Amino acid sequence: MHKLIISLLVMSIIAVSCQTDNKTKTSEADSAIDVKVEALLAKMTLIEKIGQLNQYSSRWEMTGPAPESVDSMAFYTMVKEGKIGSMLNVTGAKATRNIQSWAVDSSRLGIPLILAYDVIHGYETMFPIPLAEAASWEPELAKKSSRIAAVEASAVGLHWTFAPMVDIARDARWGRFMEGSGEDPYLGAKMAYARVKGFQGDDLSDETTIAACAKHFAAYGFIESGRDYNVVQIGDPTLHNIVFPPFKACVDAGVATFMNAFNTINETPATASSYLQRDILKGEWGFDGFVVSDWNSIGELLPHGVAADKKEAALKAITAGSDMDMEGNAYINNLEELVNEGEVDVALIDDAVRRILTIKFKLGLFDDPYKYCNPEREKTVMRCDEHLAAAKEAAKRSIVLLKNENNLLPLKKDGLSIAVIGELAESKDVPLGSWRAKAITNSAVSLVEGIKNTTGTSKISFAKGPDYTVGYRSFVTELKINTSNRSGMAAAKSLASKSDVVVIALGEDCWQTGEGRSQTDISMKGLQQELLEEVCKVNKNVVVVLMNGRPIEINWMAENVPAIVECWHLGSEAGNGIAEVLFGDYNPAGKLPVSFPKSVGQQPLYYNHFNTGRPTNGEGNVFWSHYTDESKEPLYPFGYGLSYTTFSYSGLELSSTELTADSKIVVKATVTNTGEVAGEEIAQLYIRDLVGSISRPVKELKGFEKITLEPKESKVVSFEITTKDLEYYGASGEWNVEPGDFNLWVGPNSAEGLESSFSLK
Ligand code: NOJ
Repeated sequence: MHKLIISLLVMSIIAVSCQTDNKTKTSEADSAIDVKVEALLAKMTLIEKIGQLNQYSSRWEMTGPAPESVDSMAFYTMVKEGKIGSMLNVTGAKATRNIQSWAVDSSRLGIPLILAYDVIHGYETMFPIPLAEAASWEPELAKKSSRIAAVEASAVGLHWTFAPMVDIARDARWGRFMEGSGEDPYLGAKMAYARVKGFQGDDLSDETTIAACAKHFAAYGFIESGRDYNVVQIGDPTLHNIVFPPFKACVDAGVATFMNAFNTINETPATASSYLQRDILKGEWGFDGFVVSDWNSIGELLPHGVAADKKEAALKAITAGSDMDMEGNAYINNLEELVNEGEVDVALIDDAVRRILTIKFKLGLFDDPYKYCNPEREKTVMRCDEHLAAAKEAAKRSIVLLKNENNLLPLKKDGLSIAVIGELAESKDVPLGSWRAKAITNSAVSLVEGIKNTTGTSKISFAKGPDYTVGYRSFVTELKINTSNRSGMAAAKSLASKSDVVVIALGEDCWQTGEGRSQTDISMKGLQQELLEEVCKVNKNVVVVLMNGRPIEINWMAENVPAIVECWHLGSEAGNGIAEVLFGDYNPAGKLPVSFPKSVGQQPLYYNHFNTGRPTNGEGNVFWSHYTDESKEPLYPFGYGLSYTTFSYSGLELSSTELTADSKIVVKATVTNTGEVAGEEIAQLYIRDLVGSISRPVKELKGFEKITLEPKESKVVSFEITTKDLEYYGASGEWNVEPGDFNLWVGPNSAEGLESSFSLK
């Protein structure tokens, strides 16, 4: 019975992949590759095929817990025997050439390895963390930084990045918030598409482009209580309407690979989910690349309790559509036996091998397996002037001005005494962010340096205040935060008292964020709050520069400090980018890609929530959906951000208030710069479906436009609405467009805007 089910599944998988092939592989180059893949496949032994599905990390750099021991020397033998198809964490032109030569020159068929690395927001030149870059609302910016990351990574012999991470996140307790584009599927999809295009370009065989990987499929950003690696319980409509859009955008952009996820979805681990990998990804979406497991996520089917041993885990994962086993040792040790026993049809393995070989051919690795290792290019492109200039541009465009009472900002460059305070202000490391690939430790421009580079005659003094972190900081160790040693507090306060203005950097060390960094408390840690309050007692002109990788709790600050600038972890050029904003060389224009909570207790918090049956306090009693100790509203809503100028919205016009299946509505509004300086504004379009067959979000982003306006200048922003924008996945398991009434807003963020309505006939 078991075998019958597997055989039926295999037949249907082959049928689906044939359909997929017919749909997507149309070009002549693709057909030529198909022929080569088939010819190679015909020559391969079973174990050589399984070898293509096997991936290990180098042992000198590990981005996950070391599972079973396979030492570095054993790798060489395995590569020679054709038992490894891919390595991750081998970097540098010399090292990649060396390992590649073992595969190409010493293995029977000479199949090149595909070499991967987590190039998330830069390789050596660091760009803002992806969450920050999403605050620019500029997909082109993300495309450019991904392009530069690919140029640098490819020079050292890398072919493949495990990026973009496109998980929609709603819970700030999750440390990996920093890796994605925030809480919204529309913005997330735009950024995801752009990043894939940036990494891959139009031609994967170009030696400066690399294969991208959409991860983590799927719903990793919905892990329960924000605790990393935890389970996910999610309804089908949310999965399709919120989680999937950025992944689908990656497929539309031609992404070469996907990575599955550590989490379960409704009790089934994503790695063992045929629904996700076969039905949706390779079936419905026609994805013809390959799926890599996450680090030992096939092995983790054991602790998840869905496989008794690695053999069963291998059977479940290959059947579900996980093509490559990262660090799991499950495929290489068990698939041969499973095939010989008739438990796994070799056609299933052929399908996975075909997918992997196809990407290797597309990368041009069979033409020249070394073309990506280029020591000359490695020397010249890393952190070159052009890349650093782009990093600075990205840094300043990712900054969000949260508060600016009495126009304290921008500061004058001359004639002021400015106290710069806080450990984060002098850090040349924190701004590099988590998941920093080959960033050189302490290579960022610090805030203090940036300020000194930018000011004129103003006197800049620095006081660190109490230590924020203690001891060794690294990607793999838990960070220690100082909670008791107050030395430095008095000196910082004294400097603040003698200065005209204080610029204080607060927030998070970069190693508080990223994988394995979930927190129950998202307020400022250590002695930071105390330092801020002490400084505020002696100086009223306080500017907070926030550095953080997730939304944090800043209620006191929002009430008591006149100016707050959200600066995330902005990469190599952070200090210069921030200083350009502080001193007005650049007028900040970023908007939050995530709601800022008032309390950790509000998590998960997101603007596109449902109304509930009791949304308001109509009766003045407790029986409505709220908290008794805190408002349910965010401190700063999704889409929020200020400028040194002001904008007004007027003249909202709809070309029609009725939409039909073949018509469209053109929505126009006038945005005017009502202030004294030029600035950029991101106008946002939201809709609400008032009555659906299932509950619909109170608002959904459906468009945005970033415009530049001179003082007093007006521009008309224009959006189109068609039925495509009103479609949603309903309880019946289908995409619906339901007639009815819709509200619509055009405005500066998700909480404000001009309102109108239309109906779908
Ligand atoms: C585990 C992470 O979840 C994934 O994002 C990353 O790409 C792999 N480790 C490889 O480092």
